Amino acid sequence: MAKKNESAFDRLLKKLTKATPIEQESSVKLDHNFDGIEELNNPLPPWWTAGFVITVIFSVFYIFYYMVQGKDSQYDEYNREMAKAKAQVEAYKKAHNIVDENTVTLLTDKKALEEGKEIYLKNCAACHVADGGGLVGPNLTDDAWIYGCDIKDVFKVITNGTSKGMPQWKALGAANIQKVASYVLSLQGTKPAKPKASEGQPCNKG
Ligand code: HEC
Repeated sequence: MAKKNESAFDRLLKKLTKATPIEQESSVKLDHNFDGIEELNNPLPPWWTAGFVITVIFSVFYIFYYMVQGKDSQYDEYNREMAKAKAQVEAYKKAHNIVDENTVTLLTDKKALEEGKEIYLKNCAACHVADGGGLVGPNLTDDAWIYGCDIKDVFKVITNGTSKGMPQWKALGAANIQKVASYVLSLQGTKPAKPKASEGQPCNKG
């Protein structure tokens, strides 16, 4: 069958396809004939059969691993990636000292409170009075809070402001807002010279 002048490529092609040579096609011709369109009963090409068999074998392992054992599904992968990204964000925030209203904590060290006081005297005293007694803004020394007494609440109010006259202070940056919020809370229970009447609800720290 093999012709003398066949190239290696031709031989390989023949091996992979096992197609009947054109001269011998009549031997595999089926007797279907539709308007002159005829069909050859060539064997399935070995490359195709091998691919099919490999796919079937692969599917058995695939189904067993992912569906029967339920391992490592796309959901797991997604959740794992999301958890990883979240941890990275948290680590970044921590490394760069970035806090937000969900992670902010009360600062109690002297230096932070000193800095908070400075920020307060510069930006807040006009409305809340230097000793926190209140003027345009409410009294910050009493136990009554309009927006809550948790550091997270206070941080939020200072960051976003309110529609009733409290400006937003995003420009101070989260780290400074944390300091001034902590300072404001350190005023709790102090006795201002002219305390403004209490507004809001008594603090319930839960
Ligand atoms: C222009 C005046 C003004 C300035 C400046 C101002 N505040 Fe206020 N602040 C207000 C007013 C008015 C309210 C009450 C808002 C309301 O009832 O919605 C308020 C409310 C607050 C509250 C909420 C109190 C509560 O009872 O829940 C906090 C905390 C606060 N201010 C902190 C600050 C801090 C810190 C600064 C400086 C960074 C500052 N404020 C600057 C006017 C001001």
